[in-house]
Amino acid sequence: MLLHLKNIFKWVNSGGQRVFLLKDINLEVEEGEFISIMGPSGSGKSTLLNLIGMLDGFDEGEYTFLDEPVHTLKEKHRANLYKEYIGFVFQSYHLLDDLTVKENLEMPLLYKKYKGAERKAMVADMLDRFNIVGKKDLFPAQLSGGQQQLVGIARALISSPKLILADEPTGNLNSKQGEEIMELFKQLNNEGVTIIQVTHSEKNAAYGSRIINLLDGRMI
Ligand SMILES: Nc1ncnc2c1ncn2[C@@H]1O[C@H](COP(=O)(O)OP(=O)(O)O)[C@@H](O)[C@H]1O
Ligand SMILES: [Mg+2]
Repeated sequence: MLLHLKNIFKWVNSGGQRVFLLKDINLEVEEGEFISIMGPSGSGKSTLLNLIGMLDGFDEGEYTFLDEPVHTLKEKHRANLYKEYIGFVFQSYHLLDDLTVKENLEMPLLYKKYKGAERKAMVADMLDRFNIVGKKDLFPAQLSGGQQQLVGIARALISSPKLILADEPTGNLNSKQGEEIMELFKQLNNEGVTIIQVTHSEKNAAYGSRIINLLDGRMI
């Protein structure tokens, strides 16, 4: 099993009251799955995705990732875990504006032990694979939304994560660009990468093999 969430609760305190963001989430994900998280705005989809990605914590329950008990790990160990195994794709690209495409792609590798020449080769591979060699010295603002999202995905993939977490990855794209991204996810999934995406689109959800529905922080 890749990951296991057991009786997870997350809340915030507001005016002396607990406001639950996630309630009793139980989820097992096997390697190679392609899961879509759906639900109305405010139902907790992003909160759940960030929790799985270890960007956010939780208040009760247990989270196991590749046999590691995430809930008991020290911050540094936890950061190593997600940097090694998880790639994030966000709706709004999250590219660094003052870095070129090439430099943005290189970012996740700087935290790892690759030598300069290895990093260069990996970036060149990604530019090639995503057909953006000609864009390598441009800044994000000089690209279309679709191209920025491609760079965002390439950056998420560059260190060969086992798990891709994507929060409405086609949200800012036109339907053709969106389809291309979904086809790319399908291909990656066929190569063995596990994917968990948040989506509003039934059509995008159909690319996956399982749908999780959230309502008011609960799986239904
Ligand atoms: N840090 C926070 N403090 C208080 N409320 C939050 C916090 N983060 C998220 N929320 C609330 O939790 C609910 C779920 O948010 P979110 O996970 O972003 O929903 P979704 O992605 O499904 O639209 C929303 O009502 C949001 O306002
Ligand atoms: Mg959201």
